[in-house]
Amino acid sequence: MKIYFTEDYYHMSRVAANIISAQVILKENSVLGLATGSSPVGTYKQLINWHEKGDISFRNCKAVNLDEYVGLTKENEQSYAYFMRTNFFDHIDIDMRNTNIPDGQNMDADNECARYNSVIRSLGGIDIQLLGIGHNGHIGFNEPGEAFGKETHCVQLKESTIKANTRFFSSEAQVPVKAYTMGIKSIMSAKKILLIASGADKAEIMYEMITGPITPAVPASILQLHNDVTVVGDKEALSVLKEKSPELITFMN
Ligand code: F6R
Repeated sequence: MKIYFTEDYYHMSRVAANIISAQVILKENSVLGLATGSSPVGTYKQLINWHEKGDISFRNCKAVNLDEYVGLTKENEQSYAYFMRTNFFDHIDIDMRNTNIPDGQNMDADNECARYNSVIRSLGGIDIQLLGIGHNGHIGFNEPGEAFGKETHCVQLKESTIKANTRFFSSEAQVPVKAYTMGIKSIMSAKKILLIASGADKAEIMYEMITGPITPAVPASILQLHNDVTVVGDKEALSVLKEKSPELITFMN
């Protein structure tokens, strides 16, 4: 595991965007595994900026996203499909036919998960998978306790997640209660993994993920077993690691 220590969210995003650019420049038809959430927004912004300057093209890339809520249309502003269009795809030259996100409108979970697994396989696997991390160590929607051996599957959202999401919807009844997510096995099959984290609220879980026991109780801890993982964290997210195990860190400037 390579662990890069950066100054702040902007610096983290720049370093992460550099790693993704290098991947795309070395292999123009890369399969990019992408994530949503607040962590990757700056990375996408930086990639858009380099694309606009003519430094990078995604014309031949393919994209597969980690997850999507069940029951939301692609036009719903809370859907991950909408997030990806507005934060990334609409601003770059990727062919939208080459972008893939689980179909939240397919209510047949077995059918949708099998379809998504076969999409990933048909692309020849993921070249680089971008990940954020939840406060409890979740990656994708793989919450603590989920078996490591799963590919794409349907998860029942925790009551706390549903409550937390209520603020984005006009009523609690509209909040999705299920999501489709790539499983840990799908994520671990990616050739490279790039995990980004920013903020003091991620400091404890980052330390646990990197140095703690490998256990389904901390889903991201499995990444210790992957042979090509790069972690880019800002100084707050890596503050506990810096204090307890600074020898594991590469300091970027
Ligand atoms: C996003 C995803 C989630 C987030 C995680 C961190 O597609 O699958 O696992 O990466 O919840 O979210 P943020 O970046 O908002 O802190």
